[in-house]
Amino acid sequence: EKSGYEHYMLKEIHEQPTALRQTLSGRIDELNGEVDLDIDLPKEYLNSLEEVTFVACGTSYHAGLYAAQLVESLADVRASAEIASEYEFDGGRDPWRTLVVPVTQSGETADTLSALRRAKRAGARSLAVTNTLGSTVTREADETVFIRAGPEIGVAATKTFVSQVATLALLSVAFARARGELSTTDAIEFLGHVRQLPGAVQKVLDEEAAFKEAATEYADGEAFFFIGRKLGYPVALEGALKLKEIAYVHAEGFAAGELKHGPLALVTPKSPVLAVLTQGSSPEATLNNVKEVESRGAPVLGCTSLRDAEKFLDVTFDMPELGALSPLIANVCFQLFAYHVAKLKGRSIDKPRNLAKSVTVE
Ligand code: F6R
Repeated sequence: EKSGYEHYMLKEIHEQPTALRQTLSGRIDELNGEVDLDIDLPKEYLNSLEEVTFVACGTSYHAGLYAAQLVESLADVRASAEIASEYEFDGGRDPWRTLVVPVTQSGETADTLSALRRAKRAGARSLAVTNTLGSTVTREADETVFIRAGPEIGVAATKTFVSQVATLALLSVAFARARGELSTTDAIEFLGHVRQLPGAVQKVLDEEAAFKEAATEYADGEAFFFIGRKLGYPVALEGALKLKEIAYVHAEGFAAGELKHGPLALVTPKSPVLAVLTQGSSPEATLNNVKEVESRGAPVLGCTSLRDAEKFLDVTFDMPELGALSPLIANVCFQLFAYHVAKLKGRSIDKPRNLAKSVTVE
């Protein structure tokens, strides 16, 4: 059932265009710039919202961080992502004007469920985003949107991350339209990008050989640093998480501007740096950070379409650009890089040590 792939993870990485088509199917009205997610949240309620809070763990938390930026920029409402195990419903939030959005592939993550329960006890409304029909979160949240990515067997989340972010992008448009914050023209443009996502991801997948080559060249790095700004920041965190969990190497994601506030001391010729330099991630500003690490001798691998970035990069992953969705495409580069590093190291890719697919303890 791995359809000729050596690991479920690789199969699921390659399934991303299909997963995305399933996620998006029947939900976009591109002609009118509208989205139909079949949720029952009255327009008046969405209009009165003061805050949207995504609660999640691990990769789903990174999807929440991505979504929070989309919601703020499109729907003009305060939004944040909170690590579920740290989340408390306090800080003067008004339960009637706060929508809590648990994001969970499995729908069974104990930390996420208990964050949802704390929010519900305080009186907040909730909307779950999950891959799993009939899961606990669907029974406990007021509303549910399914990401429809299909079953994911590999412990490391891959296709469900991209489908989660795509679903949350649609949700951002739905909120924005209901609140009158996004013009039809702008909605059509954004949804056009969403529609092109499967094809753009496929373009990256077609270049797998390049990621394998980069992995072969840099697999013996002592540590790997992923940097990005704006929408590139959650992708940097996710790139590092994937590498640590399947390759068992030290990897960290940083907001690129934070490097000079400490982490730069870790940078050496033995610590490859992977940078998000796409649209939606302030690539020019991040390029300055690329120069900082380059001058310390670190090899730099960058996802970019900027021609002038190439001269500062040891390896360039050529990126199709899709506005605010470009960093999400860069994530596919990081998945393939992590996979090939892990494979070279002979790791147990589909079942990394110490990890479980669904974490049902707090
Ligand atoms: C990483 C990974 C985990 C999960 C986390 C949340 O690849 O899979 O970090 O993302 O355990 O799981 P869900 O989304 O099922 O709540």
